[in-house]
Amino acid sequence: MEIDGYLDVPLWLAPMAGVIGSAFRRIVRRYPCGLVFTELLSARGLLAGSKTMEPLTRFHESERPIAFQLYGAEPQVVAEAASLVKERFSPDVVDINMGCPSKKIVRSGAGAALMGDPSRVFDMVKAVTEAVCPVPLTVKIRSGLHSRSINAKEVALAAQDGGAKAITVHPRTKTQGFKGRADWRVIGEVVEACGIPVIGSGDVVLPQDARRMMDETGCAGVMIGRGSLGRPWVFLQAYACLKGDAVPEDPSPQEIGKMALQQLFWEVEEKGERRGVVEMRKHLLWYSRGISGAKAFRREISKLSSLEDGIKLVVEFFSLEEEQVGFKRKEPIGVPY
Ligand SMILES: Cc1cc2nc3c(=O)[nH]c(=O)nc-3n(C[C@H](O)[C@H](O)[C@H](O)COP(=O)(O)O)c2cc1C
Repeated sequence: MEIDGYLDVPLWLAPMAGVIGSAFRRIVRRYPCGLVFTELLSARGLLAGSKTMEPLTRFHESERPIAFQLYGAEPQVVAEAASLVKERFSPDVVDINMGCPSKKIVRSGAGAALMGDPSRVFDMVKAVTEAVCPVPLTVKIRSGLHSRSINAKEVALAAQDGGAKAITVHPRTKTQGFKGRADWRVIGEVVEACGIPVIGSGDVVLPQDARRMMDETGCAGVMIGRGSLGRPWVFLQAYACLKGDAVPEDPSPQEIGKMALQQLFWEVEEKGERRGVVEMRKHLLWYSRGISGAKAFRREISKLSSLEDGIKLVVEFFSLEEEQVGFKRKEPIGVPY
């Protein structure tokens, strides 16, 4: 499909390494969301068949359309990895990470380091576009390396010339990391300079923020990251805002509890009991925000290590009735991967 098809619902779920996996993406899929992303995947790791990559590449068919995001420093290496990903996973979109500020990744010349080298951006995008054709290639950039070297426009144009079909701009510098406010004016500048769709990322928390970002910057779509954690229904609410409809209310604590329980099952199904439950701890913290009694619940969550205890805790905290749990313990949990 052309990239415009993924912008029919112009709300994308942001990649968030170590936070968002297949189970949460499956939950988000209940709501209007044009595209979801894997977390950033090492091109070298994929080519080496590294075992650590396997869990990161897992996804469920119901998550489609899905973008696989790669990072690397050398255009040919990223192109080769992209070609492998295309063959093995048939992603709907391939994305190149040009924004990760992690020291290790930047030192290797990948992630946000690419913001300092627009000609390499062009070479990489060109090589990867050719490798994945006809799968659309997108890139995700920052505003620049430092506050005195804001060059998102230049990098975006290099990516566009190389063949990128869309560009996501997270308008913080590498130095800022995730601190301070995202400067949406940079998104507007990239929109003005580029002919391809630009997606804005950063500080979209309330449903109204998505509408505001599109109005203020002219961007074609909005990515939602941290604002969706523990509140994936923000996609439904933001979509209503975009259409000018009344914003649906937040779900009841019981509905949130059912959602959390479903995610817990999927986490365990995907990662096994121990890892799945540990992974779910932070999501349970987010799901419990704003619900009374959350303090004691949080203390219990930090000790959680079995599915059985996880179910009990969620059922009690969110006041779920037995029939709302919707499964019997000895039955297999959902669809296998
Ligand atoms: C914990 C965490 C992990 C992230 N991992 C990635 C990643 O793997 N790839 C990427 O392009 N951006 C990553 N980001 C950046 C987000 O995709 C997004 O651009 C940023 O958080 C700003 O959006 P937000 O304010 O909606 O969260 C990450 C952000 C956070 C907080």
